[in-house]
Amino acid sequence: MATLANKIILIFGGSSGIGFGVAEASLKSDAATVIIVSSNEERVQGAVKKLKDGKFGSGEVKGLSVDVKDEAALKKLLTDVGAVDHIVWSAGDGLPLGFPNMELDFMKSTFDVRFWGAVIVAQNAKFRVGGSFILTTGTVIVKPGKTWSMAAAIMGAVDSFTRGLALDLAPIRVNSVCPGFIKTELWKDFAPDQLEKLFADTAEKLPVKHVAGPDEVAEAYMFLMKCAYITGQKIQVDGGHTLAA
Ligand SMILES: NC(=O)c1ccc[n+]([C@@H]2O[C@H](COP(=O)([O-])OP(=O)(O)OC[C@H]3O[C@@H](n4cnc5c(N)ncnc54)[C@H](OP(=O)(O)O)[C@@H]3O)[C@@H](O)[C@H]2O)c1
Repeated sequence: MATLANKIILIFGGSSGIGFGVAEASLKSDAATVIIVSSNEERVQGAVKKLKDGKFGSGEVKGLSVDVKDEAALKKLLTDVGAVDHIVWSAGDGLPLGFPNMELDFMKSTFDVRFWGAVIVAQNAKFRVGGSFILTTGTVIVKPGKTWSMAAAIMGAVDSFTRGLALDLAPIRVNSVCPGFIKTELWKDFAPDQLEKLFADTAEKLPVKHVAGPDEVAEAYMFLMKCAYITGQKIQVDGGHTLAA
């Protein structure tokens, strides 16, 4: 089996959820250095401690804080970090639900983190030979829920951007992971009982009969880092969500 020995992995959105799961999986795959990035210094340092305390591997763990909406700060971070092997993009702010009752300025701003942040990284990151960039979309692009039109639009843009980038950044490989429901901090704004019901109802409908944690979707990112023969593709990890009623 391939490992990530000697590899430097940079994870935007690595302080929680899917990004944190990818950080943990990278260390378990022998990555030499894992750098997690998010906007909140305290949460970054908390996640760094959890990764170090977890003793998931012998790799070095670093944390950096930047608000990816701040173009200058994001470019500076990329310059400071220098060349890396793999970049994972799973930064995401609050879910933009509620269409059509939204103001135009707000709707435009909902692209800032998930889409425009990724664009700045694509233009400014430095990759070592054999490197890759892995973006994150979601099954909303094929199966949107009611009032989820803006979420579908953002993730659809990221999905298309991935295929374009695979040509524009070649020989750097560019792929995306398209998760279904995953138990992460993304859902923190839902009331606990509402969330419990959402996950229970979802598990019942899914062919796999459970809602995954970040560890299960992290496997897809590991594959995309390690397989040198895949680019411009999306891996959908959704427990059968898009097949289920
Ligand atoms: N969980 C799911 O069910 C699911 C399903 C499909 C797709 N997705 C997508 O997968 C991606 C990751 O989701 P997740 O579930 O892992 O969410 P999460 O646990 O909330 O993680 C989001 C990460 O992004 C960071 N972030 C947010 N705003 C940022 C900013 N302005 N600058 C830098 N970092 C920022 C957060 O840290 P700070 O807030 O501290 O900055 C956090 O580390 C999102 O795009 C989400 O829409 C998730």
